[in-house]
Amino acid sequence: MTDPTPASADADASDLPRHIAIVMDGNGRWAQRRGRPRTFGHRAGAKTVRLCVRLCLERHIPALTLFAFSSENWKRPREEVGALMSLFMRSLDREVDELHEHGVRLRFIGERADLSPAIRKRMELGERRTAANTALQLTVAISYGGRWDIAQAARQLAQEAAAGRLDPAAIDEAAVAQRMALAELPPPDLFIRTGGDRRISNFLLWQLAYAELWFTDTLWPDFSATDMQHALDDFARRERRFGLTGAQCASGRSLRG
Ligand code: IPE
Ligand code: IPE
Ligand code: MG
Repeated sequence: MTDPTPASADADASDLPRHIAIVMDGNGRWAQRRGRPRTFGHRAGAKTVRLCVRLCLERHIPALTLFAFSSENWKRPREEVGALMSLFMRSLDREVDELHEHGVRLRFIGERADLSPAIRKRMELGERRTAANTALQLTVAISYGGRWDIAQAARQLAQEAAAGRLDPAAIDEAAVAQRMALAELPPPDLFIRTGGDRRISNFLLWQLAYAELWFTDTLWPDFSATDMQHALDDFARRERRFGLTGAQCASGRSLRG
């Protein structure tokens, strides 16, 4: 973690996102361009995760959610899935102490039943160990899909209704939101995707409703503090209207002083 963070002239603290969600894409291509196996790129990508955690801590950005493995990534070749699972396991063994020392609360979202008991155990230990930390809420999405998330929320609602604990007529957006992953965090303000593709790939479909989207061609292992600063500077310049008119937003800003 030695890459110095470039200072920026045009982003002040009030313009910072409270929650950044990142699709960490491009590891395979990064490795292939070097004539190496795709798994070499995944290992290199793990270092970029450390950098992003450090940058969020330095900038006091309170929440970071990282897409590490999607529901669909299970369909990749068996060897690649196996290598990724070993990498998660090793990363958990290696990183949790340091995350804890820096006050990071670590959590996971996704379908845990698909993961091996050994990984699940490490995830639970990491979550329990860091549960009281408040410097950064770090969520790692593993075996996660936005459609899976909506389906599991619907299942919970149906079970509560069937058990007589919930009136179906009372199901509104807030009731769904409460049962989605990340319910206790503010929704992501800034969505970053590396690797050049401009798509969501079944990440946080519900939670990204009003996120600002930022894409870069940089492949994930090359993503740097400078790239993050570009994303933050761009975010600071966006006008977030949430359905209102530009004039309404401007008067809201002047009212707030
Ligand atoms: C992202 O990099 C990591 C995972 C999806 C697990 P990729 O492995 O998708 O890399 P590319 O997109 O093929 O280069
Ligand atoms: C999205 O990347 C998932 C992760 C980064 C974990 P993919 O590489 O799986 O996405 P597609 O296949 O290009 O849409
Ligand atoms: Mg990819």
